[in-house]
Amino acid sequence: MSKNLKLGIFGFGVVGQGLYHVLEETKGIKAEVLKICVKHPNKKRPLPERYFTFQKEDILENPEVDVVLELIDDPEAAFQIVSTALKKGKAVVTANKKMVADHMTELYDLQKKYNVPILYEGACCASIPIIRNLEEYYDNDLLSAVEGIFNGSTNYILTKVFAEQKSFGEALTEAQELGYAETDPTLDVGGFDAKYKLCIILNHAFGLFVNPDDVFNYGIQNISEFDIKIAREKGYKIKLVAKSRKIGNRVVAMVIPKFVNEKSELFKVENEYNGVIVEGAFSEHQFFIGKGAGGYPTGSAVLSDISALTYNYKYEYKKTKQVSNLELSSDIELTIYLRFDDPSLIDKDDFIKILEEYKALENQYIIGKINFSKLVSAKWLSSPKVNMILMHNGDENHR
Ligand code: HSE
Repeated sequence: MSKNLKLGIFGFGVVGQGLYHVLEETKGIKAEVLKICVKHPNKKRPLPERYFTFQKEDILENPEVDVVLELIDDPEAAFQIVSTALKKGKAVVTANKKMVADHMTELYDLQKKYNVPILYEGACCASIPIIRNLEEYYDNDLLSAVEGIFNGSTNYILTKVFAEQKSFGEALTEAQELGYAETDPTLDVGGFDAKYKLCIILNHAFGLFVNPDDVFNYGIQNISEFDIKIAREKGYKIKLVAKSRKIGNRVVAMVIPKFVNEKSELFKVENEYNGVIVEGAFSEHQFFIGKGAGGYPTGSAVLSDISALTYNYKYEYKKTKQVSNLELSSDIELTIYLRFDDPSLIDKDDFIKILEEYKALENQYIIGKINFSKLVSAKWLSSPKVNMILMHNGDENHR
């Protein structure tokens, strides 16, 4: 029997408002909003005042509220809200990827201890139903890889820079105005946001509890006009990809810009869209595409979680029970493009093999093979005058 749910919402920003409208338009869902807790008392809001409160207790201590929707920005405040809600026996829906990634183990334990679910489909790739698919559909298939474009803002920026010759800054401002970017956009641009999503996916795909600090991310902030020119000449686009691949009992995971050619599904993923490629031993190669940022696409995923709660759905974290000896590893060979102006910034000995070298007055680059474990500690990683891009076939040896 499905239930009539009473909702308490924390946050009424892009996602909160998106969810509210999606909820309004969806007649079939058995859920109603009781209260919305917001931070700033004096903001103009599009709903009657009676909906709003500034006291979290009005939701957390309210016995009528059975589902807490956590849609605020601050991950630590969000974790406090979410853990209190779970301890009080209230189900939770959240879209807060950093909070979920940072606290995956605690959230897992709280759900077990208090026998109450937390769902977070909206935290990964917004409208793409990837978590529930990994949990339910790819329940027993032997997954070998999950990778794709997990961040809408950076994909929007790269699209505008490539297709419309906009400047990086102009495209970022647009992504912010459209409500795609994080409040601190360095989380998007630096590949952190995509990494949090990847960490959540690593759990539901492979059963790993991973600390985000242990996963490598390299962003798009150093991409220059020269890099874009090289990409165009070689028939590539640059996409920020999040990658995870299982090789034996090792899982390799990273967020890195990648040259993709037109043979890749990711080539056609543009603007705020995300794309996820899933590879399994028996299901083989599959591709999901959908809007990865914005109030409505995220709101639709949150709504789907609310709907799932009406029939008592919860994540079972099935993969965590299926595997025992998997571990995160950085022992693979990658082929990368490395651009720099000053050769003293680069140590060629880091490379196993140099495949191509280009030297001009202002720009030089190397394309070469390097072990990922060497790359993660390379001295040039932190230099703003160097840029690294994974080659389009840069991890092909591991397929
Ligand atoms: N800032 C995020 C993005 C929002 O651009 O993908 C959706 O998680």
